Amino acid sequence: MKKTLLIFSVALVTLMSSCKKEEETPAPTLYERLGGVNAISAVVDQFIANVAANPKMVRTFKPLLDEVAAGKTTRVTALRNNLIDQIGQASGGPQVYKGKDMVTAHKGMKITDDEFNSLVNDLVMALDKFKVPTTEKNELLGVLGGLKGMIVNQ
Ligand code: HEM
Repeated sequence: MKKTLLIFSVALVTLMSSCKKEEETPAPTLYERLGGVNAISAVVDQFIANVAANPKMVRTFKPLLDEVAAGKTTRVTALRNNLIDQIGQASGGPQVYKGKDMVTAHKGMKITDDEFNSLVNDLVMALDKFKVPTTEKNELLGVLGGLKGMIVNQ
């Protein structure tokens, strides 16, 4: 009887500790669910291509677009890397954003609601092209959408 009780106790403790372990397994971060840095980089490249082809972006992006047209890519590469770091950091990845804060980066541009929405649509098209699932897409848009107040009308 004692032996049975001992076996039962050991089994119960084992079961409880394995349940606990399962509870403690952290949920994958948005960064992981997006597919990490390679997937984010692919989306950012497509996003930049969409922005460059969007007539509503010409007003603010003209200086950058002119440089690219002249074969100078330093500035667009810096923007690309900043965006990858920003999205990586915001989604729980190991990247550290080293660019300007959003108010400073957009100061004096007087970006309108319509321009903001149009740029977000360029991002949505990029996310859709890479078939990013709705949950992850909405989570990322939620995080970036939260920056709107720092970007519009500065
Ligand atoms: C959630 C939305 C947005 C995010 C996350 C974002 C992010 C950024 C970042 C990280 C930079 C680079 C900062 C640096 O140089 O240190 C930047 C620059 C810039 N952003 Fe935005 N931005 C957003 C919306 C917009 C919108 C709506 C416009 C205009 C319609 C815009 C126009 C620009 C321009 C023109 C630059 C400077 C590019 C250059 O010439 O180097 N951004 N933005």
